Amino acid sequence: MTHRWACLLGEPVAHSLSPALHNAAFAALDIDAHYEARLVAYDELPDVVQQLRAGDCLGANVTAPHKQAVVALVDQVGDEVRALGVLNTIVNVDGRLLAGNTDAEGLARWMRLSQIDPAGHPAVVIGAGGAARSTVWALADLGATAVVVLNRTVERAQALITSLRPHLTSVDLMWGGLAEAAEPAARPWRVVVNATSMGHHGAAPAVHPSWYSRDSVAIELAYNPPVTGFMVAAREAGARAENGLGMLLHQAALAFEHWTGQAPPMDVYEAVVRQRIGT
Ligand SMILES: NC(=O)c1ccc[n+]([C@@H]2O[C@H](COP(=O)([O-])OP(=O)(O)OC[C@H]3O[C@@H](n4cnc5c(N)ncnc54)[C@H](OP(=O)(O)O)[C@@H]3O)[C@@H](O)[C@H]2O)c1
Repeated sequence: MTHRWACLLGEPVAHSLSPALHNAAFAALDIDAHYEARLVAYDELPDVVQQLRAGDCLGANVTAPHKQAVVALVDQVGDEVRALGVLNTIVNVDGRLLAGNTDAEGLARWMRLSQIDPAGHPAVVIGAGGAARSTVWALADLGATAVVVLNRTVERAQALITSLRPHLTSVDLMWGGLAEAAEPAARPWRVVVNATSMGHHGAAPAVHPSWYSRDSVAIELAYNPPVTGFMVAAREAGARAENGLGMLLHQAALAFEHWTGQAPPMDVYEAVVRQRIGT
């Protein structure tokens, strides 16, 4: 049987955990394949994507800054890619490139497995970048009645909501400025997601303690550091708080499943993460 391969396309890619995760899973399942990170400049993207059609290629992950540009280079995209405008996974099926966004699906799957259930409740997303878009999709998929997106650059929150509205008709979508999170809430929220990149810099959006109750879950999408100021503040206000590790592992697992038809052993993934970032 042919040795097969998959890869990550991005710039930069050196920080990525994906090679370690997928190579450990290939080894654990005795699959004759390897995964490598490829540093790809914008003008190289069409040629590199064309190479993914090779018979021995399983597919690829795509990360910044190519998640949007690559959409035009594949043959078929899922509904979530059409709505979000970005993809992160490509599967090569006999030379045809099928694409999906496992960030959105991975977050939703991890939330289901972790008994975080926004169904029937409104939810808040702080931040309006790519991760926030996936989060809004996941919350709608899990049955949230409304999603409010708050962002420092309020126009970006408005643009996110305007572009998603035609695709997410069952959920009420609203936007506002980041400062609103610091104001007292009329009632606690069931789910509050920090989709800003502030946690990486030891910072946190100010969230008023009245936004939380014991039934609330605060989700920090960053996972390194494993506990952020956003999570500490939520716990102090009585909420459950989780980081983005579950989303990371499940978006990777979904990609692996699409490429191989097999689920990766999650304990192997978790061991890789423990070794790499000590969580
Ligand atoms: N767990 C996972 O699998 C996973 C997957 C993807 C992303 N993430 C995490 O999600 C986070 C966002 O990623 P992304 O790709 O969406 O990033 P992005 O597109 O660059 O968006 C960054 C967001 O953070 C906001 N922000 C940055 N610095 C800020 C500050 N000082 N004050 C207030 N807001 C600030 C930005 O607001 P402006 O619009 O005003 O600039 C924007 O909304 C990161 O922590 C990333 O690691 C996790």
